[in-house]
Amino acid sequence: MKADILLGLQWGDEGKGKAVDVLTPRYDVIARFQGGPNAGHTLEFEGKKHVLRSVPSGIFQGNKINIVGNGVVLDPALFKAEAEALEASGIDLKQKLHISKRAHLILPTHCLLDAAYEAAKGAAKVGTTGKGIGPAYADKIGRNGVRVGDILHDFDRKYAYIKANHERILRNLNYDYDITKIEREWFEGIEYLKQFKLTDSEYEINDMIHSGKKLLCEGAQGTMLDIDFGSYPFVTSSNTISAGACAGLGIAPNYIGDIYGIFKAYCTRVGAGPFPTELFDEIGEEICQLGYEFGSVTGRKRRCGWIDLVALKYAVMINGVTKLIMTKSDVLDGFEIIKVCVAYNVNGTEFDHFPYDINADVKPVYTELPGWQTSMKKMQNENEFPAEFNGYLFFLEETLGVPIEIVSVGPDREQTIMRYTEEEE
Ligand code: GDP
Ligand code: IMO
Ligand code: MG
Repeated sequence: MKADILLGLQWGDEGKGKAVDVLTPRYDVIARFQGGPNAGHTLEFEGKKHVLRSVPSGIFQGNKINIVGNGVVLDPALFKAEAEALEASGIDLKQKLHISKRAHLILPTHCLLDAAYEAAKGAAKVGTTGKGIGPAYADKIGRNGVRVGDILHDFDRKYAYIKANHERILRNLNYDYDITKIEREWFEGIEYLKQFKLTDSEYEINDMIHSGKKLLCEGAQGTMLDIDFGSYPFVTSSNTISAGACAGLGIAPNYIGDIYGIFKAYCTRVGAGPFPTELFDEIGEEICQLGYEFGSVTGRKRRCGWIDLVALKYAVMINGVTKLIMTKSDVLDGFEIIKVCVAYNVNGTEFDHFPYDINADVKPVYTELPGWQTSMKKMQNENEFPAEFNGYLFFLEETLGVPIEIVSVGPDREQTIMRYTEEEE
């Protein structure tokens, strides 16, 4: 059996949470492979909305095992708040959720450092989620991190050592802070974490694969936020791409099966950094309002723009995407014309590859397609799709060279249409 991956192809918030939830019945295990509580994965069913941060999005359907992999960074205080809310809603999280001992911990001082580094950057700030992600991954790579498995032995000494290092940096940055309350909540989180199954998840996962269990690896953020291939330095601090699933869970590349790449019918970005197709006019505002484009973690308004096929093609290549999922199709229901960025123009020269440096000189080149001007929200089957919508799908599939197998027409689990599949799916 091979493990499938589902990951974002744009700048995050493509609808990964909803898609993982929809696909969960086909799998035995759902495993998050990178990122931390910077993620906000939203699911809607039975009239209720749920936002997950560190817990995988397979937690609501059936009795599936959900794994927080070694590639994830975990904040015990935020995890406790999220997990207790899930437990209160009747989910037996302590049975269903396993956490890798190799996952790194986000310390209270990582969050302070995140804020201090952003403040020091001034106008050049990244616009992080403020969850300590960059400093936690920096300590992991710098071999100074503290891991989940460390909470079981000699933890206070390790914590004190790294905290003292961080406090020296904070003093150098003249950053004022009071750690008392956040540190207390953090240690409460550590005690809570001890009640969970802390595992050698790489063994667990490989045993499951070899015994024929079906595994779905859930990404966070998106390809354009990848530390290597995103719009550096306006990125997150992990590998959000398909290769990240191998490193973040301990799965060898030859055990990877399908790679689902998810994208919105348009683009959004939250935080700073280049965004060639960003709209600053009333169309951008309309997309924002219709798509309710406000961050699920920070509440920040997301920047909106037309779909960018230069970036999307790049993402398909880097990830080896085998199946596409398009979400938020319904948000474009009312538009007469839909623009699609097919190339970039820099000082009069057009090209369709993703450049090393996206700056103000990069201008999008658009093709205009007719809008469908029909409400898609209640559609159940692709036979109901308007001709113009099929034209949009066909144009994207032709350009990207990968079939769009799932179309999402609303936030609810039910508002999902499968294509190219047999009835039972
Ligand atoms: P994720 O981070 O990739 O899981 O995405 P988010 O949950 O941050 O953002 C996606 C938002 O769009 C959430 O509020 C979803 O409920 C919502 N959503 C997902 N699919 C659709 C869709 O097809 N149509 C509409 N209108 N909303 C959707
Ligand atoms: P999901 O999983 C959208 C953005 C931040 C900032 C940059 C770095 O819900 O799609 P970080 O806190 O990671 O150091 O911030 O990345 N960012 C996201 N944008 N969706 C996310 O996650 C994001 N996680 C981080 O806004 O620009
Ligand atoms: Mg999100």
